[in-house]
This record gives sequence, structure tokens and C-alpha cells, in this order.
Amino acid sequence: MGRHDVLIVGFGVAGAWAAIAARDAGLEDVAVVTKVHPLRSHSVAAQGGIAAALGNVAGPGGVADDWQAHAKDTIAAAAGLADEDAVEIVCREARDLVLAYERMGCCFSRLPDGRIAQRPFGGHSAPRAVYAADRTGQALLHTLYEQALARGVRFYEELFVTALAMDGGACNGLAGIDLATGRAVALGARAVVLATGGHARAWSVHTNTLTNTGDGVALAYRAGAAILDLELLQFHPTGLYPQGILLSEACRGEGGWLINAEGERFMGRYSPAKELASRDVVTRAEQTEIEEGRGVGDQKEALHLDLRHLGAAKIQERLPEVRRLVERLAGIDLAQDLVPIRPTAHYAMGGIAIDLEGRVLSPSSEPIEGLFAAGECTCVGVHGANRLGANSLLEASVIGRRAGRAVAAAAMNRARTGADERDAALQKLEATMAARRGAAARGERSVFAVLRSLGEVMTRRCGVTRDRDGLEAGLAEVAALSEALRAVGCRDAARAFNYELAATFEAESLLLVAGLTLRGALAREESRGAHVRRDHPQRDDSRFRRHSTAALGPDGEPKLGWRDVRGRGEVQA
Ligand code: FUM
Repeated sequence: MGRHDVLIVGFGVAGAWAAIAARDAGLEDVAVVTKVHPLRSHSVAAQGGIAAALGNVAGPGGVADDWQAHAKDTIAAAAGLADEDAVEIVCREARDLVLAYERMGCCFSRLPDGRIAQRPFGGHSAPRAVYAADRTGQALLHTLYEQALARGVRFYEELFVTALAMDGGACNGLAGIDLATGRAVALGARAVVLATGGHARAWSVHTNTLTNTGDGVALAYRAGAAILDLELLQFHPTGLYPQGILLSEACRGEGGWLINAEGERFMGRYSPAKELASRDVVTRAEQTEIEEGRGVGDQKEALHLDLRHLGAAKIQERLPEVRRLVERLAGIDLAQDLVPIRPTAHYAMGGIAIDLEGRVLSPSSEPIEGLFAAGECTCVGVHGANRLGANSLLEASVIGRRAGRAVAAAAMNRARTGADERDAALQKLEATMAARRGAAARGERSVFAVLRSLGEVMTRRCGVTRDRDGLEAGLAEVAALSEALRAVGCRDAARAFNYELAATFEAESLLLVAGLTLRGALAREESRGAHVRRDHPQRDDSRFRRHSTAALGPDGEPKLGWRDVRGRGEVQA
């Protein structure tokens, strides 16, 4: 059984920064555990940019940008739920962070005079998204991987973490499946950082990699953490129809239009910012167009993205990846033709409650000893009810770096303990794996069928708009799917790379997260940001300008509550 000072679970930009910062803070023995090859972590798929108020490109008013303007935009978009201290830290540190990437050798796109280029993004009052064409996440993640390797960070690749080892409420390691051999393994650590990414894969139409299954949220919930705001799930306005694969907001940042079945560029009827309104506004507008019968396609549930007027040369320079995706998946050259798009589940604003140093918090806001988290699996309070595009790579990087420094300090002061708990976690995992393999004969339904049904339930019941009846029906359906999961068998007998067996654990996480999402959506009887209740169309600050919380109750059921927002809430969209 390996032991390390710190174990970081996940290697998107949050986990990568945590590893690098922990090493730079003097910790010798930092290891990353990842379910996939590090360079297949979902951050690699981020397209449009990372926000920072560098002020390299003048906006429409020609005004120079600053972090205060960035913070104001972020708070306004968050619709009353931003924790303003977190926003300030993230926006303040953005410039230094981008320059740190640059010093590491990240190949950002450039202006003709050599400075870092920036493009407009929805809801930002200045062109603020720093980018590398439309492969920004790829540029960032490759840079960070090189840096982590250079610092001697140890990698456990394709190791799927399924349990934390908890000793009297403190975290001392983890257990998981080594996918290459099919063996259960346990690893010890003075502290663990969860950086496992999002969970939009719970919906059938989404932008996420298939491995974004809410594992971190599930691990932290079971370890006693508070989970915040899961009902606040962002739908991105431009998913390629029908699958929902991301077509970057950069398409609109570079000047793309949204067109309905009548050939109308409709966004002007919804916002003076047109296609560059914030995502909640654009997505709701699209939904209205579709519901009022102005959708395109056989089912009339798509709209058109029009980039033709940008010209092939600009498209090839700024949006090569989007062009390639649309060509390969839809057979359309977007320089010549309209592209069908739809709203698509994209990003979790909610997640594990953490403080500004990435410490995971209990329902009473006490840090859980030895447990840290960063990135999309968390809710540090920056994005509130609606995240601005390009703020996720930023938040994940800034808070990942802060968590890395904090976990280094914590680990230096903590003895290695908990061998018994790791043994117990390992034995429990071995028993569960054996039982699931043994259930092959009686499994009537495959785990993949359960996952497909879950996607349909969440898209139908908890989509861009929701109501009580649908959410209650969704909750009952998720409960039935959880019951069905207990009976699925694993038909694949292979030990090596048995993704069917792994999927049974992923399905547990997704069903847990889906259930908490539906409960939060029922409790939040108002409409705010990305959460639109047809039966409660107004925002209700008197009751709901608060974070929803969920935590594991003593009876094994989720206990829901509310937590105050930190900040004055004076900035309005
Ligand atoms: O549209 C995009 O490129 C996505 C950016 C983001 O979610 O921040």
C-alpha cells in the first residue's frame, strides 16, 4: 500500500494547480490519482478562454479593464448568490495566474504587437477571455502536466477512487480500483484533495466527458461534507444538435448570431447584449423560441448558429476546433452553412462546500480534517446562480493553487495515521466488487441502461425549466433507478479495464448527485439564474437569497438546509 504526503484526486486544471502548488510549497511527496490519463481530464476540452482583466483589448466603450469590473460582472451574473469575498480573490488573482501560465510556456493566442489576445464573452463588460484559439483548456492542461512532471509529482493513472478512508471524521487516504488490473488498492496520505470535476453527464444532452460522474461530490457527501446549490446547473446555449457537444461561446464572442426558424436574429428581443448576454439569459431565450414554435429541425427543438459572415479565414484562425467538430460530427462546414444547436447541460455551479483555501466544510462550516477540494466539484461561491463563461478555468486554477498551498501546510503538521481505516475501506471495496461480478447471472438490466434512463429523467424533469410535478416525478424515478442499480449484474467478466464494473460505481455517484439536485430544485421555490421554475417564475430574495445545503443525515437520508451568502448583494444584473 503506497503512502504519500498528499493525494490529489483528479488532474483537471484544479488538481494540476494543487499538485504544483503543494510541491512549490515544499512538500516532497505529492501524488495524483486519476481515473483517466492526466491529459484526458475534462479541462482539456475547455474551448473558449480563461477570464482575466488584463485590459489588452479595448471594449466597445474603449475603457481599460480592471479586476473590480470583472468582479462586478461576476457578481451581477450570479443573481444574488455570489460570495463576494471569493469573487474578489479570484478576480484579483486572475492577472497573476495568467502570467504564471505564460511564464510556464503556455501558448496563448497573441495580438499583432505580441501581447496576449483577449476576446469578448457573454456577460463580461470588456473583452476578457484569454485564449489559445478554441483549444484553451488543451493549452493550459498540457502546460501544467509538463510542470507537474518536472517537479516529480507521482501519477497513479486510471485509478478510480471509490471511497475515502475516514478516521474519526478525518481523512487519511482512499481506496479505489486500479482499472488496468482490476485490483482494489488503498493509498494513505496526510491529506487528500478532491478535484474530480463536474457531473453534467447525469443529463442525456450535455457537454461533458463521460467520466464526469460526480465522484468527488459523492465521496465528500459520504465523508460528512455539506454540498451546496446542486440545483444550480448551467445549460450552455450552443450544444451541437442533437448530442449537445460544446460549440464554444467563442463562436458568439467572435461575432456569431443565433437565428430562429423564421430566419430572425432573435436575441435582440431578449437583451441589448444580444448573443453576448449571460448564459442564463441566452438559454432561456432559446427555450422560449423553441416552446413558442420557432425552433428548427424535424422536432423543432433546435435553433441555428450562424457564423458564415465571419469568413473562412477568421473561423480557421479563431475557431478551428469548433469547425472540425461540426464537420466530423454533423458533416457541416460552418463557414458555408447554418449549424443546428440546442441548450445543453454544461457546468455545476454547486458542489462540495469549501472555504477560500479549499478546506472541505461540514454542515456547521467546520473544516473536515485532512480533506480539501477545488474546481468544478466544489462550490466556493464565485458563480452563484449563473457562471460567466471563462470564469471556470479561472476559478479552478486560482482555488486549485490556493488549495495546494493550504494542503501543503496542513500535511506538514499532520502525522500519518489511519491504516486500519484504509484496510477497512479496501476490504469493503473488494467485497463490493466480488458481489457485483457475482451478480452477473441475475442482472436483468445493464448499468448502461440505468445510466441512459437517468439521463432521460434529468433532461425531461430538471432541464432549462422545471416545476414541482416534474421534479417530484423525477425524484421517484431516480429512487427507482437506484433500486434497479442494486440488481444490475456485471456481464463483463474481464479483470483488466472492466468499464462495466467501474460504471456501477459511477452510476452510484450520478444517482446520488441527481437525487440531491432534484431535492434542491424542489426546495428552491423561485426562479434565479440557471434555475427556472415554471410554477415560481419570480426571484424571491426574502426566502432564497441563500445557498441550499444538503448533507448526509444520521438516518442515512439527505438533510437539507440553507446557508447565508457572504456579501452585500448590491450589484444587480
Ligand atoms: O463556451 C465555452 O468555450 C465554454 C467556456 C466556459 O464554460 O467557461
